Amino acid sequence: MAVTISEAELTPTRIVAELDKYIVGQADAKKAVALALRNRWRRLQLPPEEAREIIPKNILMIGPTGVGKTEIARRLAALVHAPFIKVEATKYTEVGYVGRDVESMIRELLELAVRMVRARQLEAVQAQAAELAEQRLVDLLLPPEETPPADAATAQRRQRSRAKIKSQLATGAFDDRLLEVPVEEKPPLPAMVGMIGTEPSDGGAGFSDFLEKIIPTRVVTRKVKTPEARRLLAAAEAEKLIDEQAVIRQAIELTEQRGIVFIDEIDKIVAGEGRSGPDVSRQGVQRDLLPLVEGSTVNSRHGAVQTNHILFIAAGAFHSSKPADLMPEFQGRFPIRVELSDLDAADYARILREPRHSLLHQQEKLLCTEGLQVQFTDDAVAALAGYAHNINQATVNIGARRLHTLLEKVIEDLSFDAPARRGERHVIDAVMVRTKLAALAADEDVSRYVL
Ligand SMILES: Nc1ncnc2c1ncn2[C@@H]1O[C@H](COP(=O)(O)OP(=O)(O)OP(=O)(O)O)[C@@H](O)[C@H]1O
Ligand SMILES: [Mg+2]
Repeated sequence: MAVTISEAELTPTRIVAELDKYIVGQADAKKAVALALRNRWRRLQLPPEEAREIIPKNILMIGPTGVGKTEIARRLAALVHAPFIKVEATKYTEVGYVGRDVESMIRELLELAVRMVRARQLEAVQAQAAELAEQRLVDLLLPPEETPPADAATAQRRQRSRAKIKSQLATGAFDDRLLEVPVEEKPPLPAMVGMIGTEPSDGGAGFSDFLEKIIPTRVVTRKVKTPEARRLLAAAEAEKLIDEQAVIRQAIELTEQRGIVFIDEIDKIVAGEGRSGPDVSRQGVQRDLLPLVEGSTVNSRHGAVQTNHILFIAAGAFHSSKPADLMPEFQGRFPIRVELSDLDAADYARILREPRHSLLHQQEKLLCTEGLQVQFTDDAVAALAGYAHNINQATVNIGARRLHTLLEKVIEDLSFDAPARRGERHVIDAVMVRTKLAALAADEDVSRYVL
């Protein structure tokens, strides 16, 4: 798992270094996002009245398909200590039409923040909750007393048996004992409601939220073994220790001050020449996005959220449109433009092998589970990269995604037979790569469909 790096340590250099572990090249884009992130941290070091005046500089990432735009967002999300969501612009519809309105992305960001803050608080009260749970376990294990301990002697005796049970608990003496534990749970929502809830329209989601709120929780008794009882009781105690209102308050603050929204496929909401049908609605989505990006208030079930300081990073390939086709106000709200470059054969070779969890690494690991050792030689990597580049040039340029399809073709048979070849060792060299790909690649029509 990724180690978490403290926020102060996340300098621009450090952020770029972290991104470098996963993404080849694209130095400009990495630099821009690193700087934007650091600027948020800097802003939060200032006194509130100064911080208020500093508006984030949103970023527009422009670059062809398959060169790492979404990948940068993904890796960035794992790095930041902030609510971060990645959404696709095409998933939204103009206000007034059936579908998801853009404000829902802010609500989604807030829900994420609520989960983050809750998890943090649960973590903080864990020791205390464990202690309380143990007390309750002891109570459950204690033989019932006929009369309340009236005199000092009985009270003392009872105290002693508690201590004894406690030490026996620690040795696991009660692990097989079945205990009745009260558990709070919500009755399942009727299936019909579930269906409404999964509708993309906000009305549906809001409705199931609403039902969840009004349907009371009920307490049921479950019969479980002691270790499970301990877990259930600790969870219940932790819930009780959490200040729900403080969670919401902090989550709203976190969203407003540090939230990041990555809007992918932004080029798809640019109206084309046609200016009819879906295009009109796309313009509408852009128009709806403007107030969010400029700073407005979004209502959520937890309260109002100000969007002024939320950082927006938008990305798009801009194949059939250009950033200049975006509404002028929109362009103005994304002052930082970074272009991601096309990848060449040398980049592909690096992408195959260098990043953590690189394609070749994944393949080797997968086949290893079958007891099959595979190894790709340097010239095999070079050959694969060369094919990727040539086919991208000759047909459609899909960037690094081409590597996935090519690699699959090369190892297809080996992968299929792997269970029968347990214990074998295979070296995949350039000759094998060529054997598998040459015929397919030679024919442009074939490669268009197969590779
Ligand atoms: N520069 C890169 N370094 C490492 N891997 C890359 C790079 N570029 C692309 N990839 C890999 O290629 C695949 C596609 O990349 P990604 O999703 O980032 O493309 P994109 O730029 O968002 O394209 P699109 O415009 O089509 O959304 C991913 O599996 C990713 O890991
Ligand atoms: Mg993408």
